Amino acid sequence: MEVGFLGLGIMGKAMSLNLIKSGFKVTVWNRTLSKCEELAKLGASVGETPAAVVEKCKYTIAMLSDPSAALSVIFDKGGVLEQICPGKGYIDMSTVDASTTSKINEVVSAKGGRFLEAPVSGSKKPAEDGQLIILAAGDKELYEEIIPAFDVMGKKSFYLGQVGNGANMKLVVNMIMGSMMNAFSEGLVLADGSGLNQNTLLDVLALGGMANPMFAQKGPAMIQRSYPTAFPLKHQQKDMRLAIALGDQANVSMPIAAAANEAFKKAKGMGLGDHDFSAVHEVVKIPENASGK
Ligand SMILES: NC(=O)c1ccc[n+]([C@@H]2O[C@H](COP(=O)([O-])OP(=O)(O)OC[C@H]3O[C@@H](n4cnc5c(N)ncnc54)[C@H](OP(=O)(O)O)[C@@H]3O)[C@@H](O)[C@H]2O)c1
Repeated sequence: MEVGFLGLGIMGKAMSLNLIKSGFKVTVWNRTLSKCEELAKLGASVGETPAAVVEKCKYTIAMLSDPSAALSVIFDKGGVLEQICPGKGYIDMSTVDASTTSKINEVVSAKGGRFLEAPVSGSKKPAEDGQLIILAAGDKELYEEIIPAFDVMGKKSFYLGQVGNGANMKLVVNMIMGSMMNAFSEGLVLADGSGLNQNTLLDVLALGGMANPMFAQKGPAMIQRSYPTAFPLKHQQKDMRLAIALGDQANVSMPIAAAANEAFKKAKGMGLGDHDFSAVHEVVKIPENASGK
C-alpha cells in the first residue's frame, strides 16, 4: 500500500516510521524539508510539496500542529487541493476543531476526493509503539480502506460517523486530560507545601481508583521539575482553547477547563510552550524558599 505522510513532528515521525517498518511504501513531506532526511534513509520517498505527495499516493495522511497548519497544507501553493481528485483519499490525523475538518472535507469533496478526520489519543511513546487510539469520522469506505495503516499506528480505531465527531471527541478527551494535569500539579505542590513526601503521594494515588499511566509516568519527573517533551504544552493549550470554543457552541459551562486553560496560557507566557504539557506544574509550583515556613 502506497501512503503519503505530511508532517514529521514528534507524532508524524513515529507514525510514518511504523508504516515504513511494516512494509508500506511511504512518501513523506515536512514544511522543514530537512526533517525528511532521516526517514529517507530508512526507506521513505520524499515529496517536494504536499501536492507532489498527493499526486503520487492514493492515500495521504497528515499530522500537523494546529488548524492553521492543517488548512495551509490544503490551500497554499503546492498544497493538497492542487492534486486531490476522484480515487484519492485524504486523512487528517491532526488535533483540530470540527470547523477546520468540515472546511477540509468540503474542498476535498468538491474536487472528487474523499476525506476522513482521524485524530489520535496517545502520546510520543504510544505513537512509537503503534499503540495510539484513533478517533475517525467521515468517509466510511475510506475508513475501511485505510484500516491496515491504522492497525499499524494504533491499538484501536473508532469510527464515529460524520465529520466533526472525531475532532470533537478528541477535544473532549484532551480537555479532561488538561484539567487532570492541572489538578495533579496542584496536588503535588500542596503535598510539598504541607510537608508531605511527593513520592508517597504518587504511591498512594497509584494504589487507588485514581491510578492512571499519566500520573505514574510523568509524576516522578515533575517532582524533579523535569518536563521532557512528549506532548508540547503549546499544543495542549491549543486543545483547551478549541475545547472551550466547543463548550461555547454547545452552551456547556466548563469552569474547571477554563481555569486549566489560564494556567497553560500562563505557562506559555513563561516560555514553557515547547516543554511537555506537564510543565504547567511550574505555574503552581511554590517558588523555592517562598513556602512561608
Ligand atoms: N505529541 C503528542 O503527544 C500528541 C498526542 C496526540 C495528538 N497530538 C496532536 O498531533 C499533532 C502533531 O503533534 P506533534 O506533537 O507531532 O507536534 P510537533 O512536534 O510540534 O509537530 C508539528 C508538525 O506540524 C508542522 N507544521 C506546523 N505548522 C505548519 C504549517 N504552517 N504548515 C505546514 N506544516 C506545519 C511542523 O513542521 P515543521 O517541522 O516545519 O515545524 C511539524 O511537522 C498536533 O495537532 C497535536 O495536538 C500530539
